[in-house]
Amino acid sequence: MITVTALSLPLRTDRLLLRGYRDGDLDAALDYYADPKVARYLLEDPWSWKYGQEQIDKRVDHTDIDKPGSALALVVEHKREVIGDVALWPTDAALSRGELGWVFHPKASGKGFATEAVRALVGLAFGHYRMHRAVAQLDARNTASARLCERIGMRNEAHLRRDWWSKGEWTDNLIYGVLADEWIA
Ligand SMILES: CC(C)(COP(=O)(O)OP(=O)(O)OC[C@H]1O[C@@H](n2cnc3c(N)ncnc32)[C@H](O)[C@@H]1OP(=O)(O)O)[C@@H](O)C(=O)NCCC(=O)NCCS
Repeated sequence: MITVTALSLPLRTDRLLLRGYRDGDLDAALDYYADPKVARYLLEDPWSWKYGQEQIDKRVDHTDIDKPGSALALVVEHKREVIGDVALWPTDAALSRGELGWVFHPKASGKGFATEAVRALVGLAFGHYRMHRAVAQLDARNTASARLCERIGMRNEAHLRRDWWSKGEWTDNLIYGVLADEWIA
């Protein structure tokens, strides 16, 4: 296993700031996670206050990837306002493969903010954590997420039919992937 130096946060991109969660982040997160349109292609239902608090409590501890089961969960801010969040977690014991997740407030849509934040996260996966592969899994109907994957250079590697039980039905699942050497090239 490759040893990595401590992660330095917050992370800044051209327009965004990516930081760890704080206890006070529930209201800002509920503002989009409680929206059924946002939750449409997530495996979870729209957040209630109680469920949201449990999620924030977990995410406050997701500050680094250092062992199986760990995760890096980051709040994304634009001009000091929370507009979404991204997460990276390892999918193997050697921490050499990672999975990415993202959820953004509809008010921030259509400006490339999610693309910019996810690019930074993939940069961390390969540049900081030295992973060799990163994937994203999405409901096949989630065309906005698929476009995001393609914009940042991920490849559609699989279309798994009726692979997820989501909101009362079996749904198709897309797997997008990118390799470290492709990313660096
Ligand atoms: C998935 C999700 C983040 C995509 O949001 P988005 O607004 O399409 O993504 P971005 O913020 O990267 O914006 C990209 C759009 O802005 C446009 N854009 C404008 N300026 C841009 C810029 N500087 N850079 C890149 N794109 C830009 C792009 O053309 C693109 O529009 P298009 O897809 O119609 O071509 C959002 O729909 C979401 O949070 N959905 C709910 C949660 C969810 O489903 N999460 C994923 C689970 S797998």
